[in-house]
Amino acid sequence: MPTLIARAAISILALLACVGGSVARAADVANGRSIFNTYCASCHGTNPAIGSPATAANDPARIDQAIRTIPQMAFLDSLLDANDRLDVAAYIGTVVAPPPAPPIASGWYWNPAEGGRGFFIERQQDRFFMAGFHYDTDGRAIWFTAQGNVVGSLLRSPMSMFRDGQSLTGAYRAPGPLPSPGDLTIDFAGTADRATMTWPGGTVALQRFGFTTNSVVAPPQPGAPQSGWWWNAAESGRGFALEFQGDAIFGAGFLYATNGDPTWIIVSGTMASPLRFAGTWIAFTNGQAMGAPYRAPVRAPDPGTVVLEFSDATHGSLVLPDGRRVPLERFPF
Ligand code: HEC
Repeated sequence: MPTLIARAAISILALLACVGGSVARAADVANGRSIFNTYCASCHGTNPAIGSPATAANDPARIDQAIRTIPQMAFLDSLLDANDRLDVAAYIGTVVAPPPAPPIASGWYWNPAEGGRGFFIERQQDRFFMAGFHYDTDGRAIWFTAQGNVVGSLLRSPMSMFRDGQSLTGAYRAPGPLPSPGDLTIDFAGTADRATMTWPGGTVALQRFGFTTNSVVAPPQPGAPQSGWWWNAAESGRGFALEFQGDAIFGAGFLYATNGDPTWIIVSGTMASPLRFAGTWIAFTNGQAMGAPYRAPVRAPDPGTVVLEFSDATHGSLVLPDGRRVPLERFPF
């Protein structure tokens, strides 16, 4: 009896191993390609991305269904077992839906040899929204935005500039467009946190900007708000790029001077608590213009106090220098 039970146990284990083996088998893309060329190409052509086979990318059940329901394909039922169908679906998958490009890290980017200007890039699914914070040829702090689809490792878009929008403490006014200074391409070339920016000013190597004590790019402290673009939906035309690393914040607001010129201001320092920051906006002038040689900017008069208070990861408010409170939330794009 014990032997019999032991035998039964072994055969159950063997059965499980067998089932597990067939489920866990990795698809054999080379076998899938050869089956496709032997059995599918005669009717569907050699490119599985064109026509009906594309619908079976990484989906062997679609092949089962086609064999069951398309009379011309019925003969394949006895020729192709489950593994063959898995392999064909995987092969079609490599042609139709190549593996996704590596993630592009959202946050502040700069060139360490050109301190004083920065670029905030955020990716949401297949879209990106970014702004560059730099200087006009006459030294004024100016900015541009760019947005579009992420294509592989590439961000490509015309640059947009605006003027006559809302100042830090002024009433709401909708900005109007300025002529685009040109097109911009940011190529991550398969890396998550380094890129080459090509813009009307030439080519600039960019990398993530670390602003914790030892300049390391660190994850945010627990309980921190989301890093990314923030805005007030009722006051579109200005925006705030806020990033949290450790207990530090580094952010910028793109907005307008009282005379309507586009300008930007910086918030930087240690959070009083994960959801609260109190400090002073800082501003710069006379930095490097697009395409011009490097020039270190100088501090301009401080634009006033800044308090950021968050109620959760995606909502908060900005307390203006005059005490008024502007609700802020994450900007979806
Ligand atoms: C003898 C011709 C023939 C061969 C061989 C053949 N197919 Fe088809 N297949 C068809 C026809 C006809 C249709 C229906 C019209 C269409 O969708 O193109 C079809 C449809 C399909 C569809 C769509 C089914 C659906 O649900 O819409 C898939 C997927 C497919 N074939 C995959 C394959 C694969 C994979 C192979 C090889 C293993 C194969 N076919 C071999 C003729 C063929």
